[in-house]
Amino acid sequence: MFLVPFLYRAALLLLLTGVPFLDGGAQGRGRGQGGGPGAGMGMPEAERENIHGLFEAHDKIKRKVKVTKNGYVSTTTSEDPEVVKMLQSHVGQMKKRLDSGLRVRRWDPAFDEYVAHYKDIAISIKSIKNGLRVTAMGKTDDAVKVARNHAAVISAFVENGWDEHHAEHPAALTPKKDPKNAEDTKEEAQAAQP
Ligand code: HEM
Repeated sequence: MFLVPFLYRAALLLLLTGVPFLDGGAQGRGRGQGGGPGAGMGMPEAERENIHGLFEAHDKIKRKVKVTKNGYVSTTTSEDPEVVKMLQSHVGQMKKRLDSGLRVRRWDPAFDEYVAHYKDIAISIKSIKNGLRVTAMGKTDDAVKVARNHAAVISAFVENGWDEHHAEHPAALTPKKDPKNAEDTKEEAQAAQP
């Protein structure tokens, strides 16, 4: 008799507390809240450690990105075998994560957008000597832009290491907000129509 309301309350509680996990909402602690890049309750320790290792070793990594008709081809290599291992497992881990519908760095507009368009980007990963080659092809015009933007963010990670870790990267498709220009436009509009 007492079991029914109890079960009902338990189910309600699970629903209320469980939802953030289901949509990946608890994954990113977000900027400035500690725990590292893309970190949070949802990101396994091994994945987080790998990302930290890559930020740490960024100056041992060489990367080239070639823009193609539908996307890009990137070649990322290192002379250090440990770094090569980290790179190869990172890409596999992230692909698996996104394939399973989980999100990454959701506070960062470029990543939020990348996840939203992920199903429209065909990605092939090939291990090569000292690293990996990734071919990304967008299935829509928007997805092509989003994929290339993602490649540029990764290049910035490689170039700047930890300095890039807290940066918010602009999305490719939403117009950039420039408060100064917005103010100019407002002044112009006010001058034109006082
Ligand atoms: C917060 C940190 C990071 C996050 C959330 C992240 C996430 C991702 C995601 C989602 C992908 C795409 C996987 C796929 O293709 O499905 C990716 C790919 C990749 N990441 Fe990371 N990453 C991070 C940091 C780094 C760092 C620090 C490096 C190197 C210094 C790096 C190097 C790469 C490379 C080489 C690829 C392959 C894609 C390409 O070459 O364009 N990532 N990462």
